[in-house]
Amino acid sequence: MRTVVLSLGLVLLCLLSAEAADTGNVELDRSKVAGKWYIVAMASDSEDYIKKKESLKVAMASVTVLEQGDLNVSFAIPTPGQCLKFSSIYKPTDIPGKYYSTDRGNKTVQLLATDNKTYMIVFATRVKDGKTLHMLRLYSRTEEVSSEVTKLFKKLAKEKSFSEDTIWMLPRQEECKLDEA
Ligand SMILES: *[C@@H]1O[C@H](CO)[C@@H](O)[C@H](O)[C@H]1NC(C)=O
Ligand SMILES: *[C@@H]1O[C@H](CO)[C@@H](O)[C@H](O)[C@H]1NC(C)=O
Ligand SMILES: *[C@@H]1O[C@H](CO)[C@@H](O)[C@H](O)[C@H]1NC(C)=O
Repeated sequence: MRTVVLSLGLVLLCLLSAEAADTGNVELDRSKVAGKWYIVAMASDSEDYIKKKESLKVAMASVTVLEQGDLNVSFAIPTPGQCLKFSSIYKPTDIPGKYYSTDRGNKTVQLLATDNKTYMIVFATRVKDGKTLHMLRLYSRTEEVSSEVTKLFKKLAKEKSFSEDTIWMLPRQEECKLDEA
């Protein structure tokens, strides 16, 4: 009896993970996510971002894994005249690779692709004034990113219905960085 229950459980598990694979979710290896990242490319359907796209530059993020698997993400985001620094706590959801945060409004992030080493492509949503905004971000360990990864980012952006003119490779900048830890 015990074996039957066990194997049923295994079958269910397999079905569940097959389903997850179908929706394009990628499991996050928490041991591989910690540390400093450059956000070198993004796509967004937010009017605010589209309006200020000329001034968008490489941002930085630093990830710490907390107990219970929560992620503490510190950002340094260059905006005209200001270097925005803040951190958000993201909590795991039932979906592999998907996290949510209720700091500064409801937000989700979902890992779409990674090599567990040099890059992560993350799909994010944010609710603002009752509207859900969408964003795709390319996190890279280095400020330079290979053309293969750039191509993959652009391909995923198109699959997520971002139009060509809302997909941006961000220029480097030196003024707004995270403090060295
Ligand atoms: C998250 O990280 C920031 C920046 O390092 C820190 O100030 C804050 O206390 C951390 N929050 C938690 C809950 O660990
Ligand atoms: C966030 O989502 C929850 C549950 O859907 C809702 O109750 C809450 O009002 C939302 N908060 C904001 C700031 O949108
Ligand atoms: C990355 O790590 C996850 C979780 O351990 C694993 O499922 C996945 O196959 C790994 N991907 C690559 C490209 O190594």
